Parts: sequence; structure tokens; C-alpha cells
Amino acid sequence: MFAKAILSLAALAVAVNAVPAPSAVCSQGRRASSEACCVWFDVLDDIQENLFDGSECGEEAHESLRLTFHDAIGFSPLLFREGKFGGGGADGSIMAFSEIETNFHANDGVDEIVEEQRPFALKHQVSFGDFIQFAGAVAVSNCAGGPRLQFLAGRSNISRPSPDLLVPEPSDDNDKIFARMGDAGFSPVEVVDLLASHSVAAQDKVDPTIPGTPFDSTPSSFDVQFFVETLLKGTLFPGNGSNVGEVESPLGGEFRLFSDSNIARDARTACEWQSFITDHASMVRKFEAVMVKLATLGQNPRALTDCSEVIPVPANVQLPPATLPAGKSLKDVQVACRATPFPAIRAAPGPATTVAPVPPS
Ligand SMILES: *[C@@H]1O[C@H](CO)[C@@H](O)[C@H](O)[C@H]1NC(C)=O
Ligand SMILES: *[C@@H]1O[C@H](CO)[C@@H](O)[C@H](O)[C@H]1NC(C)=O
Repeated sequence: MFAKAILSLAALAVAVNAVPAPSAVCSQGRRASSEACCVWFDVLDDIQENLFDGSECGEEAHESLRLTFHDAIGFSPLLFREGKFGGGGADGSIMAFSEIETNFHANDGVDEIVEEQRPFALKHQVSFGDFIQFAGAVAVSNCAGGPRLQFLAGRSNISRPSPDLLVPEPSDDNDKIFARMGDAGFSPVEVVDLLASHSVAAQDKVDPTIPGTPFDSTPSSFDVQFFVETLLKGTLFPGNGSNVGEVESPLGGEFRLFSDSNIARDARTACEWQSFITDHASMVRKFEAVMVKLATLGQNPRALTDCSEVIPVPANVQLPPATLPAGKSLKDVQVACRATPFPAIRAAPGPATTVAPVPPS
């Protein structure tokens, strides 16, 4: 009996260490680690209903995840070293100075989501920098198989416009992209990890005649198909021809960016790219890790409050294993990783795949 009591005490100690005791009770009896997190439950309810159309992984979710990058990557230690202002990173400047930043060529099209998000940030009186990262984290939690991102709150609402030319373009070559991303603190392999976001993404402005054309056949699932389909030989342009930043895609209704195509085939990144095809868990884990960095670029994380408990736990869905789209075979794969053989994945049965656009909502 004595031994049993000691055992249960030990178990209790472990439990207390693992879960910090929630100290604040928020709306609808929800609990948070800090009072400062409570407002985010209210933001959550509002955006799930009124921005993401009932917790969907649709166009607004895709664009909200994209905006986390376009705000945060405006940060250049290189410019600071040259004595210039290098941007504030994940500081909300893309929303505060949207009339400047959304006119940068690389930010073409993000004005729409900035204007859709702004009223929510103003209504709940949270900083633009916090709001953009929060909305992106909630957005991707709505996607089947999605990650649960960390969310830290407390970014200042005061910012300055980012300098131009810090956001990589789909028409940039790999050396240029890796140099820019390296300046911001990301290795080429971490660029691949960030590009898991293109699993739930579509283009609007590279070919403006076919807005909503996704980068893989499953744009509502944070699955591995993007990493398979980008390695297939390109055969067609889904829209009205070749545009700057576009290369041929393998499927009708699917879009391939020049940059995705090149990074998938680059010796520096091809094995990381291929590794995700058979390892969704690794894709999720690495995306979560790299987003911790992205969301705090230019910020001091120790000065922020961890409100991650507000981010929804993504639904536990069993995603199907990677497949070759119907009509394709392993002969259509342009294998680029030399260290590891390409996995023996199967083709889906049925007639050749075409992909439907993401409907605007
Ligand atoms: C953040 O700054 C904008 C101006 O850029 C302002 O309209 C908004 O009210 C500010 N929000 C907070 C919470 O201070
Ligand atoms: C595609 O459409 C754009 C915009 O309408 C136009 O500028 C371009 O010339 C077209 N390209 C082709 C190959 O038809």
C-alpha cells in the first residue's frame, strides 16, 4: 500500500510537469495558460465562422497561410549590416502599410486577404502581426492532415514598411531563393520544409486567366501529393500558355511554379523533397518546426506569450498513402535524389486525373 501511494504521487508529479496549470478561464469556460490568451478564443470563434466559412481549408485558409510568409519574410539581417532598415519580419507591416507592400511585385494578389483579415484584427484589438500569424495557424489546422502550429502572442502593433525585393518570386532561380532565404535564417532544406505549405495552395496571379489553380490534386489536404506530383514530367500548361514563373505541369487543372520545379530537382534539396513522399509525419513535424522560426522573424520570442493552446487540434484523419495520379507511371517521375531510390508508389486506378480549381468563396 505504501509503495502504491508513492507510485501515484510520482505519476502526479509527471502529469503536473507535462501540463502547465491553466490559470485563466476564458469565454465558454475555456482555459488558457495566461489571461493574455483569452482574446484569441474569441478571435478563433469569429474567424472560423466568418473568415474560413465554418472551419474550411478553402481559398481564405490558403491565402491566410500564404500571408504569414509574405509578412514575415520582410526581414533582412544583410540590409541591417549594410546600415539600412531591413524590415521588421513578422510585424504586421504588410497590413499596416498595405498600400506600399501589396504593390511589391512579389505580393501581387495578397491585398485581398489583407483586406479580408483587417476588420477582424481591428474588431478584437489585437496587433496586425499577431493576427496574421494566428490566422495562418488556425487556417492550416483546418486542412486534413494539417499541423498544429505554435502561436505566440504579443507582437508590437508598431511597424515600418518592409523594404521591397525581400519576398522570393516564383520566377527566381534557386541560388537567388536560397541566398535570400539564407539571409533570413533558413537553409535550403528548410525552404523545402516551408514549401509543404504548397500542399494547400493555389495560384491566382502567375496566370491571371485561371485563378484558383492548385499546385497539387488535393489542395484541401495537407498531404504529400504535392511532393509526388511536382516530380512528374511536365506535359501541359493548364491555362493560356507559358507565363513568367510558370512551367509545364503534369495534369490538367494543376499549376507548377518554376521555383517549385527547380527546388524539387536541385541536388541540395531533392532528397528532402523526396523523403516526404513516404513520411507525412515528418512533413508535418518539420513544417511545425520551420514555422516556429518564420512566425518570430524579427521578434524576440522570449518577450511573447505562448497561447498555442488556442490553436485547434487538427482532425485526426487517416490520409491515403502517396499515389501517382491515374494515368501516370513511375516512368513519368523525374527522380532527382541520388542517395535514396524513389519509393515504389502505385498509380490510382481510373481515367487520367484532372484537377478542379479551388472555388472562390
Ligand atoms: C494597429 O495599428 C493600426 C494602424 O496601422 C490601427 O488602425 C489599429 O487600431 C492598431 N491596433 C491596435 C490593437 O493598436
Ligand atoms: C494569356 O493571357 C494574358 C492576359 O489576358 C495575356 O496577356 C497573354 O498574352 C496570354 N498568353 C497567351 C499565350 O495567350
